[in-house]
Amino acid sequence: MTDRRYLVAGNWKMHNGVADTSALLERLLAEKLPGTVDAVVCPPFVSLPAAAMLLAGSEIGLGAQNVHWEAKGAFTGEIAPGMLTEIGVRWVIVGHSERRSYFGETDETAGKRAAAAQAAGLEVIFCLGETLEQRDAGETLAVLERQSAVLGDLDPAHLVVAYEPVWAIGTGRTASPEQAQEAHAFLRQRLEAAFGGAAAGIRILYGGSVKPQNAAVLFGQPDVDGGLIGGASLDARSFSDIIRAAASCAAGDEQWQYS
Ligand code: 13P
Repeated sequence: MTDRRYLVAGNWKMHNGVADTSALLERLLAEKLPGTVDAVVCPPFVSLPAAAMLLAGSEIGLGAQNVHWEAKGAFTGEIAPGMLTEIGVRWVIVGHSERRSYFGETDETAGKRAAAAQAAGLEVIFCLGETLEQRDAGETLAVLERQSAVLGDLDPAHLVVAYEPVWAIGTGRTASPEQAQEAHAFLRQRLEAAFGGAAAGIRILYGGSVKPQNAAVLFGQPDVDGGLIGGASLDARSFSDIIRAAASCAAGDEQWQYS
């Protein structure tokens, strides 16, 4: 339970071209979603224009999965912030561990992407989290300290942090609520050191094998303000059930059970 408005964001990763995006969004729009929780979907770049048209006028926000820091130029394969805002994208994921581990993203480049995105008017979902080796070596908080250093240069009013332990992503192995809360509380302290009172308004999402079955217990932690959902966001029913779990936490319903 938290005073912050819950946010549930779906990171579709490299799933759903235009046709599949339209089909999934039509199913999602047919679900009766609670109005008390913010919901965002992040399809692949090529599917964003179709998604923007389908979501126009709906309560579901639209996000991209990455963004470059320059406004234009010779950066083959990259997408500029203004290209996203032009088609109605309002959110962007930055620094995902898959970008860091497979595509050479660093703390520095993630920080640059995030700052440029905010300057263009985008809401940033900044991802960080430790690997299994780092957790086993007792380095979790040191890694989070290093990865979160760039957050101090960002605008807290347009920032969401996503704690995604790498060992929990796509593995079916979720962090325990206590492990998530410990990391989130540490990140909250880091945000307080950087932003003072404004840190209280920054949402910290948990990501890593969130499912309808485990969402409420994770979201029930004091510093867990929602989730960044991978696999379970590809199914309209599971994604909307995770949003319902967040709504039950927002309503303070401790008895809510997924069925
Ligand atoms: P899964 O929910 O599939 O574990 O993915 C989490 C994630 O990486 C979201 O960004």
